[in-house]
Amino acid sequence: MARTQDPQHLLDTAMQRVQQNWRIYGSKFPNYGDGTRYALKENINWVAGFWPGMVWLTYAQTGDEELAGYAAALLPSFERRLDENIHINHDLGFLFTLSAQAQHQLTGDEDAAALAMRAAAVLLGRYRPKGRYIQAWGPIGEEARGGQMIMDTMMNLPLLFWAGQRTGDSRYATAALDHARATAAHNMRPDGSTFHTFFFNQHTGEPMHGATHQGAADESLWARGQAWGICGFAMAAQWCPDQPFLVETARKMARRFMAELPADDVPLWDLWLPEGMPDYRDSSAASIALVGLLRLAQVDPENAVEYKAYATRLFDALTTHCWDDRPDAQGLLLHGASHVPKGQWMDAYMIYGDYFMLEALTMLTDTHVDLWVSTVIR
Ligand code: GLY
Repeated sequence: MARTQDPQHLLDTAMQRVQQNWRIYGSKFPNYGDGTRYALKENINWVAGFWPGMVWLTYAQTGDEELAGYAAALLPSFERRLDENIHINHDLGFLFTLSAQAQHQLTGDEDAAALAMRAAAVLLGRYRPKGRYIQAWGPIGEEARGGQMIMDTMMNLPLLFWAGQRTGDSRYATAALDHARATAAHNMRPDGSTFHTFFFNQHTGEPMHGATHQGAADESLWARGQAWGICGFAMAAQWCPDQPFLVETARKMARRFMAELPADDVPLWDLWLPEGMPDYRDSSAASIALVGLLRLAQVDPENAVEYKAYATRLFDALTTHCWDDRPDAQGLLLHGASHVPKGQWMDAYMIYGDYFMLEALTMLTDTHVDLWVSTVIR
């Protein structure tokens, strides 16, 4: 199928927006937005890494040192997150891979590497040996959430793999792989669909039951969770090519995701939406899955033709129905859905949707600098 838009043209446009936006945002972080603008926040929540990630991806393309200086100036706010324990949970990978680790990877800054290592050690501390999973939210051992793991955590495993590679300490990769095994065994259902979250008895390690947090129902299929799974398992497979279950899990999730898309291929926020629920789309699920499929094509070459056909469908859907081509647009993708059950940010920009669209464009133009899966220890 012919692509509806030229990836190089879109990449150039996306980078122009990054160049224009950083001068507006200053020390603040774009989270979500409607109209043509992002709402800005302090560095206080799980999405703060995606904006520096976009800046570092743009720096990797352009070599613009002013951009690198700007991104580096954001890093102390990440250090403060750890120092002051500001909203610290399983999302440490989202936060520190795309900020501290990226800064180290692209500039050789050893202080940034030390900060990423601090974050990785805290994430490792969330590993629960009984049940062998990484606790998603809340203080370790908390009664209500101590037994809960979630799909999204698959995206935080690259920080652990990176820390293990850097230090030679096998505990990092062991915890990451244990968590991936638990996710494949319990969050994924036999048909390749997924529960957003899964509960263990944290005292015995006994698997209990699936549930949702951001989906329409416990038994439904939250689109972004499925996309996190595709991309997270594909990245874990890139880190660990000797673990076939990672590719097999990503493949099953990818096939289920694609089978559940509506006619225009823009995912509904929940792919098994119960009747009567609002039918918002979630473009971020599509851009995350797109990156996952392009990664999967690299680690599962026998099925690469299939994944690339899926990727083309998602790219066409995103560029036809979601790309914001208004000249004053700050964001890239319209029609994201953050948390529909809570009524938070529907039909809006999502900074993570934009981050993954930018990353996808670098992959589609063969200019990808991979911030998640490194092959070089500096
Ligand atoms: N829970 C993170 C997300 O909204 O994807």
